[in-house]
Amino acid sequence: MQIKNLLEWQYDNIPVHRIEHMQRTAIVAEELATIHDLNAEKAYLAGLMHDIAKDKSDDDLLKISMQHNLINHQEEKDAPHLLHGQVGSYILANSLHFTDKDILFTISWHTTGHYNYKDWAWATFLADKLEPQKIEENNALKPILSTAKNSLVDAVKEFIIWRLKQREDMNKIIHPMSAEILKKI
Ligand SMILES: [Fe+2]
Ligand SMILES: [Fe+2]
Repeated sequence: MQIKNLLEWQYDNIPVHRIEHMQRTAIVAEELATIHDLNAEKAYLAGLMHDIAKDKSDDDLLKISMQHNLINHQEEKDAPHLLHGQVGSYILANSLHFTDKDILFTISWHTTGHYNYKDWAWATFLADKLEPQKIEENNALKPILSTAKNSLVDAVKEFIIWRLKQREDMNKIIHPMSAEILKKI
């Protein structure tokens, strides 16, 4: 798949504000991967594509996921927006013929992260949560970006602990992968 074709597809199918978020994510992912001497090109590409299914309705996400066996946990059925990574990865592989398995895996799990992530994939995960607009919306994230410049793993732990507390306070569904990551990375 050519990146030019992907970008054309994005502009036909995805709202501009989402494309801009993916572009900002790609840039921060590349920066973080470069700082830590990791695969900045993969981190950038995963960032550029990670939310291509984010604007699908819950019904569509659930329908596509059921049809193609993309559901891993009950929590994903209860909160179908958690499936937008899996569905995005499925579209990239099957409609856009994208073949890089590590990038597809990174996109599949970008909402929660995954304990089997490649080292560079954490740069994409963090960039999604810490790109400039996210920090503007919530200043509490700023110190986590500082941590990320020293250690991606420390920043991932800091972010997950912060988000678990936030979701508990709001009584929102918590995906079991978050606890798994804290145990295993
Ligand atoms: Fe997302
Ligand atoms: Fe995102």
